[in-house]
Amino acid sequence: MTNDAIRLTQLQDRSHFIHPWESMADAGKNDRSVITRAEGIYVYDEHNRQLIDGPGGMWCMQIGYGRQEMADAIADQVMAMPYMNPFALTSAPSAQLAARLAEKAPGDLNHVFLTTCGSTAVDTALRFVQFYNNVKGRPHKKQLISRADAYHGSTYLCAQVTGKDRDKNWFDVDSPNVHFLSQVNASKRPSGTTAEQFCDARVNELEQKILQLGADNVAAFIAEPIQASGGVIVPPDGYLRRCREICRQYDVLFIADEVVTAFGRLGHWFASKEVFGIEPDMITCAKGLTSGYLPMGACLISARIFAEVSGEHANGATFAHGYTYSGHPVASRAALTSMDIIEREQILEHVRAISPYFQQRLQELASIPLVAEVRGLGLVGCVECTVGGAASLEFDMDLGARIDAHCQQLGLMVRPIVNKCVFSPPLIITVEQIDQMIAILKQAILLTMQDLELECGIHIGAVAA
Ligand SMILES: Cc1ncc(COP(=O)(O)O)c(C=O)c1O
Repeated sequence: MTNDAIRLTQLQDRSHFIHPWESMADAGKNDRSVITRAEGIYVYDEHNRQLIDGPGGMWCMQIGYGRQEMADAIADQVMAMPYMNPFALTSAPSAQLAARLAEKAPGDLNHVFLTTCGSTAVDTALRFVQFYNNVKGRPHKKQLISRADAYHGSTYLCAQVTGKDRDKNWFDVDSPNVHFLSQVNASKRPSGTTAEQFCDARVNELEQKILQLGADNVAAFIAEPIQASGGVIVPPDGYLRRCREICRQYDVLFIADEVVTAFGRLGHWFASKEVFGIEPDMITCAKGLTSGYLPMGACLISARIFAEVSGEHANGATFAHGYTYSGHPVASRAALTSMDIIEREQILEHVRAISPYFQQRLQELASIPLVAEVRGLGLVGCVECTVGGAASLEFDMDLGARIDAHCQQLGLMVRPIVNKCVFSPPLIITVEQIDQMIAILKQAILLTMQDLELECGIHIGAVAA
């Protein structure tokens, strides 16, 4: 890009492009980096600086950038047939994708509603829950249970079941039909309790909430297997399995929101069964479905619940829900091609083999005084930092952004979330690239400590050699 082209892009961006989670006080004030090209696990900014894509786009870049095969498949589909009306017709890529997702999904999750992104996948699941209980003649069974720190998307319904308080400020999304359970990070449990006791308490909390609301009134429990943007919270062992059992016991549908965890992030097509031992009633997914090459999501529905409201049980109802772009043929073709690549290159096997190394290298950072906790699973990781003590309130807020700024100078992008740096690199990352990533991250954290000392007079402690 020429300097003029860069300046024009940044001007157009500042003047017109409202970004997700736009900080309104700063809107239009700052130039953003312009990503001009990408290859493998690297993106390149306007100065042609190479950056490791630590967050893998937004948790979506599975197969890596610059795949000719993806470009060819997408172009081929555009020329053959770029659009079909899904309300009346079908196309081979759309039907093939639905069948392939059904084949990969656990249990009897055989019915697939193709959507445009993760939010519309979750919205579809929540609307189906409502529809299901209405068709079954249980109009009172509508209460939804979610959890603190959950993120489920940005449509109105998704925002209602999202449990991140900061994201709710300034919106009217509180709903009398949605109830939140406590967060499930066992390392933040009350002192004097064991991880097992903590898990018991959290499972018990779900059961008590169902009993308190009345099982006849509770429609569904929605949970991310790992709470991703809530700060990579991995639940205690057995938690999800036991919650699944409770939902079954009280006839409450279990929605696993696998928008982040599906398509290899934890080494399997879906994490619910293979990693956590559960067969949900519904799974929502998106992101890695097309490896981020085109927008798409999906809501998978079990044959059992689908049968209960279809055919002779349909009660004359139409599931009046859908999108102009449901099952978009080009996005479907992108998803099929990405899945072909994952299979052919044995990327799931690669993730399972390399994840322990990724987690171990991240854990090494825990000895740095600024680092409070390192956690993760598969190819998802989080480094949580704190200055500690009374200064935390003032300085923890932008620790992630401070570290990210240094990382970018050194050749790495991270996803800063308040005082956390979150990672979900492209699944094709190698041992050498993990080493490169950790070395940069470590240096960036040390430089941040230095800044805090020089600029703010905060001494956090010496780093062990
Ligand atoms: C667990 C989860 N659900 C839903 C969504 C919403 O997906 P999208 O941004 O594609 O609408 C996200 C996005 O990060 C997510 O992490």
